[in-house]
Amino acid sequence: MATEIPLYREPDETAPTDPIDRVIRYHVQTKHHFNRYARSLGHLDWASQPDPFRRYDGALFVPLPRLRPDDEPVSPFYDAIYQRGVVPSTPVMLPGLSRFFELALALSARKRGGSMQWALRVNPSSGNLHPTEGYLILPQMEGLDLRAGLYHYAPKEHGLELRTEFDAGVVARLLAPFPAQSFLIGLTSIHWREAWKYGERAFRYCNHDVGHAIGTARIAAATLGWSMVLLDGVAQDTVATLLGADRGEDFDVGEPEHPDCLAVVWPSGDVTGEAVDVKHGEPTEIPLFLDPALIQTLAAGAWRGRANRLSGEHGVQWEIIDEVAAASWKTSQEQTSVAGPTARLSQLLPFTNHAASSAGQIIRQRRSAVSFDGKTAMASATFFQLLDRVLPAAELPQLDRPMPWDVLSWKPAIHLLLFVHRVAELTPGLYVLVRDREKLPVLQQSMNEELIWTPVPGCPETLPLYWLLEGDAKKTAVQLSCHQDIAGDSAFSLGMLAEFDGRLREGGAWQYPRLFWEAGLLGQILYLEAEAVGMRGTGIGCFFDDPVHEIIGVKGHSFQSLYHFTVGQPVEDKRLMTLPAY
Ligand SMILES: Cc1cc2nc3c(=O)[nH]c(=O)nc-3n(C[C@H](O)[C@H](O)[C@H](O)COP(=O)(O)O)c2cc1C
Repeated sequence: MATEIPLYREPDETAPTDPIDRVIRYHVQTKHHFNRYARSLGHLDWASQPDPFRRYDGALFVPLPRLRPDDEPVSPFYDAIYQRGVVPSTPVMLPGLSRFFELALALSARKRGGSMQWALRVNPSSGNLHPTEGYLILPQMEGLDLRAGLYHYAPKEHGLELRTEFDAGVVARLLAPFPAQSFLIGLTSIHWREAWKYGERAFRYCNHDVGHAIGTARIAAATLGWSMVLLDGVAQDTVATLLGADRGEDFDVGEPEHPDCLAVVWPSGDVTGEAVDVKHGEPTEIPLFLDPALIQTLAAGAWRGRANRLSGEHGVQWEIIDEVAAASWKTSQEQTSVAGPTARLSQLLPFTNHAASSAGQIIRQRRSAVSFDGKTAMASATFFQLLDRVLPAAELPQLDRPMPWDVLSWKPAIHLLLFVHRVAELTPGLYVLVRDREKLPVLQQSMNEELIWTPVPGCPETLPLYWLLEGDAKKTAVQLSCHQDIAGDSAFSLGMLAEFDGRLREGGAWQYPRLFWEAGLLGQILYLEAEAVGMRGTGIGCFFDDPVHEIIGVKGHSFQSLYHFTVGQPVEDKRLMTLPAY
């Protein structure tokens, strides 16, 4: 029986009204301190544990074919997905869509320990709670035996639930500005799933998870030769309308979904298949917005399905989460576009020494390490290669940036503060990777003046990596990451330092979740890179915020560490059994 704990707050007369001040207030209030964690229940209320699987009772269910790895479309080599124009475009037909969802949001394994069994997914999630729900917005497509409409993806069954059918003409008009065979995907978050365990800090974790899911979807698209761009010009009300998240009547018993984002996905080259033969080359322009009037028309049809209830009862309402969700709500619509890619073929990246694994294999085998051996060092060339993958080439137009950085429309905001423990030929200590070279001066000015920004011996010139301090940072890293050993037993761990105050003041409070999306996307690349080199990674959402800033002398809110990550040689938990996903 769940205990009813009224975490009532007195109305706060001093509460800021400006949305930017409100999100900063949320951020400050949800920091972990050495002597005080952000507010949560403090124990797990098993009676109200949320169901990780949303279903829409009454919606038509369409199973997706369960493909074996060697069924078409077969995944390319892992390295190939990062190279433009190398992976041939798969037609948007049922097998392609099935593979897309499999590699973006499906189950990847089941674990059994004692009497407990739980599912893992391709996308990681804080506490394995999986607040993120995925949607497909499909026009009528030649060769695809699915009705035009909005579908919810059901990962447990690997199938689609038809929420509403679309008028084929209207959805065609909506997608007319996009390349042939374009479709949309949408993501929502069920905040309650994370708040159940993590309380007030849950809004952060939900948005990390959105970032990871943007990453898994972008990467899944890349395995099929498809491109993907976040439609970040769309107002959040419009996202809600298109995804049905504003339909109170369908969520009368089920916990609400917070509409996060929409993205367009399209086959990036010529597509030749049995039923389609599309020669469109590369688009000249991709709009980042959708016509809200057409979306109103689409949403006016009949809807099916009622969201299931995930927890019998909710012990505590975490109002601060609704408050930050409201403060960071994107009310504006920007009618902006990005230019199509100028280069059809990318140059091979300077480092490509990964084992010849298929992308699908790396994606499916990705797991979070629960402990590391505390011994194995990473080769420095591997370390540099891994860091190279997270460089977004900020100086290039969006669609010329390397996958997956072409998915985000904003200039990268995150830099890495690295705690190097075991990287061969590198002196242990503190390092910084500046992901946008333009930001080097501001980073330097924001940190302790006494830090010396030394180029790293042996590091390729293309990598803006600096060595700040020499020393054994293992204990510090563990301590900063909520005393978790994985931060010190690894080859390295890191904090993701986001340009914070300036971004919010410049772009608006709705930038706040986006900073976490970028952090999650970064984490996703680190997860896969670690797997590809035979090691393993783990995202770390639990860390002591300000003590991280103090180490490098960051004051105020110019930069904030938003997410931590660690990579090393994993030690398997032999007590757990791994079973197939389906
Ligand atoms: C945003 C985020 C924060 C996380 N924080 C931690 C953490 O602080 N400590 C930890 O051991 N694992 C952490 N994890 C790993 C999750 O526990 C893991 O993703 C989840 O259990 C699912 O397992 P899988 O990644 O193997 O699929 C985090 C994952 C994410 C995505």
